[in-house]
Amino acid sequence: MLTNKPKTKILVDGGDPDETLRVKKLLGFVDGQTTNPSLIAKNPEIQQRIASGHSLTSQEEEDEYRKIVQIISPLVGDAGVSIEVFADLDTSAEEMLAQGERMFTWIPNAYIKYPCTREGLRAAEMSVRKQIRVNMTLCFSQAQAAAVYAATKGSKAPVYISPFVGRLDDRGENGIDLVKNVKTMYKNADGHVHVLSASIRHLDHLLASFALDSELVTVPAKVLEKWAVENFPIPPRDFSYKAAGSSGEPLKPIPYKELDLNLPGQSFDISHELTTKGIQKFVADYRSTLKRSA
Ligand code: E4P
Repeated sequence: MLTNKPKTKILVDGGDPDETLRVKKLLGFVDGQTTNPSLIAKNPEIQQRIASGHSLTSQEEEDEYRKIVQIISPLVGDAGVSIEVFADLDTSAEEMLAQGERMFTWIPNAYIKYPCTREGLRAAEMSVRKQIRVNMTLCFSQAQAAAVYAATKGSKAPVYISPFVGRLDDRGENGIDLVKNVKTMYKNADGHVHVLSASIRHLDHLLASFALDSELVTVPAKVLEKWAVENFPIPPRDFSYKAAGSSGEPLKPIPYKELDLNLPGQSFDISHELTTKGIQKFVADYRSTLKRSA
């Protein structure tokens, strides 16, 4: 069991309560959990239903999602459970908010995930005014993080922002640089946005997130199990991260940008190809669980 708990809060990135329980036994605690439509589609019970020829209606899919987070909710600590709205590229902020308001009542420790798009930001802005906690997902640029900061200013609860490290690595860019740049940009700000390193693929991503003092990190069970096998290493003060892709190739650095956090949220260019692709992938995975309508 882990005795030297890092400052960074540790969340399980998954959609299976049994897995959360397994990690909790291994570490002795779990601070929180993140879920997303792809992870929910992979949930063993949902998969079993689909394998036996029983696809779900969208109401049944939402009911299943609710049941899953209700089992996970009491297993985790104060970083809560992030629940993602079902949004495609045409979903309006009002539609996302309506889902978010409903999902927020499912459990006492919910964070609602909205994508880092114009509509997602508008939904977040309206949510924080209603004291709905939010986690801004599919973040791939510093400009998106600046826009999240500006749009959610005044939030009573911490707002999470999730930079997706692994998916940037996948296309040859050093995803850890994004975490570093966002942390640097927020350094002298008001502290209402917390960085949640996401899309973690291996132990070095986890250690780099600790070294950068990311407030939170969400990690697949298999990476946490590897961390346990290695006896829970914590990065030393002089830790240096070796930015390498899955075949050992060097990753392209992402340069820091000077951005003014006092500007209005709409003034930042928040478009990013990977955010669009990420939404499309979540939609496809979500639809794969649904009954085909004739
Ligand atoms: C968590 O909030 C994210 O949805 C998750 O970390 C994405 O990870 P992936 O890029 O491995 O799908």
